[in-house]
Amino acid sequence: MSAKVFDSHAHMDSDYFDADREEVFARLGQEIAGMINPGCDNETSLKAITYAETYAFVYAAIGWHAQEVLRMKDEDLKKLEEWSQHPKVVAIGEIGLDYYYDDSAPRDLQKKRFIEQLDLARKVDLPVIIHDRDAHGDMLDIFHNEGKGLRGVFHCYSGSVEMAKELLKMGFYLGFGGSSTFKNAEKVRSVLKYVPEDRILFETDSPYLTPVPYRGKRNNPALTLLVAQNAALVRGTDVDALIEKSTENVKKLFQKII
Ligand code: NI
Repeated sequence: MSAKVFDSHAHMDSDYFDADREEVFARLGQEIAGMINPGCDNETSLKAITYAETYAFVYAAIGWHAQEVLRMKDEDLKKLEEWSQHPKVVAIGEIGLDYYYDDSAPRDLQKKRFIEQLDLARKVDLPVIIHDRDAHGDMLDIFHNEGKGLRGVFHCYSGSVEMAKELLKMGFYLGFGGSSTFKNAEKVRSVLKYVPEDRILFETDSPYLTPVPYRGKRNNPALTLLVAQNAALVRGTDVDALIEKSTENVKKLFQKII
């Protein structure tokens, strides 16, 4: 029996879980040490809070995802601020920049809403969960200019070792998920090899990015174990020790988790 893993990023609100969400949660209660469900808008942030209220091992993060910010209104920031006071809301996220899709919100709007939510995180003293897809340059600029007093994790880290060095210097954690097990993921694995043990978080980003050998099927937080096993192999280290360290990291970063 290996140590139980903590999934620092899973979207159990996804409609992929509509048919059997309660059964999956019931199993997860036995299988994992805990999990964080990040929100992507008002609705999913509220769902995350509901799950956290229902299941002791579930924690919520709240925020507006870069791909959703066209619908975000100024008053939504007030709502996030109010919800952030909930004892099981442990972070603002997931928030960030996504330049991958052509039909995403305009970059200026993404940056504006992102910076507003970073300011909120600073104000309510919560860590941030960052989504960065094909926006590494602007992301680093923003953290160099507006990053003071912030702590957080780059979830499903996809940048270079050079960028990782800069983020680690700023105190950030890096989240590794199923994509680090993919055959073509040499770049991510080179970061995984490099990052110090006390900055590693594991995650699934369920229901997406399912680790090998289940790639293509629905992901679920229990598969964080496969991510951790692969990471231990890549780093040439003991898997249980690495799992325990990463759970310690989770609790250090997300201080409202007990
Ligand atoms: Ni996500």
